[in-house]
Amino acid sequence: MTYARIEIAPSILASNFSRLGDEIRLVEEGGADVIHVDVMDGHFVPNISIGSPVVEALRKATRLPLDVHLMIENPEEYIEEFVRAGADRVLVHQEATAHLDRALTMIRELGAQAGAVINPATPVPMLADVLGKVDTVLVMSVNPGFGGQKFIPNAIEKIRQLNQWRERYNGAFRIQVDGGVDLQNAAELVVTGANTLVAGTSVFHTPDPAGAVRQIRRVASEALSQKV
Ligand code: DX5
Ligand code: ZN
Repeated sequence: MTYARIEIAPSILASNFSRLGDEIRLVEEGGADVIHVDVMDGHFVPNISIGSPVVEALRKATRLPLDVHLMIENPEEYIEEFVRAGADRVLVHQEATAHLDRALTMIRELGAQAGAVINPATPVPMLADVLGKVDTVLVMSVNPGFGGQKFIPNAIEKIRQLNQWRERYNGAFRIQVDGGVDLQNAAELVVTGANTLVAGTSVFHTPDPAGAVRQIRRVASEALSQKV
């Protein structure tokens, strides 16, 4: 099964936090589908970013779904807080918890969509036993912690493998990719099977974030239509 629409998910980590509301409006104007929010704790990743109060503020600033990427240790302890703050989707790292199944179940029980994330060094089969319980699998194409890093190409092979595996699960999960996504690699990513493209630097570090979202979508849609 393929998803009709490719989702573009701008990552606000690369935005100007002093005018976050304006930045959100720009990407909305460009047709963004989802807002990607990176939560970092300085332990699971070597950087600290934002917490649930910012998610709460974003919830009031946009109607777009909020995709909350938890790069934190013990994610189970914070899932409820983020869902209550307004997260529509919560993504937890396989590497961050000994109880991934429990974390994913909690997310769904709280009424949000559940996503499992793997780092560049984690192989796809580590998720084999949870693929029937996720709405999204997020393949990291950088080592998480910072925006603006270079795309690590082993993500392509993982997307290919996930695309094959999801046929066994009737296409019940989206494949998302995060890190170094730009106009150069967007086409290959969607043709290989990615449905949701997270893009930070390539959207917000441009003079025209709305135009950047449109361009990424155009490149992705054209590549898909050529494939058919
Ligand atoms: C990395 C974050 C990403 C990051 C992507 O740790 O999870 O979401 O913001 O930023 P770019 O697109 O700049 O690589
Ligand atoms: Zn992210």
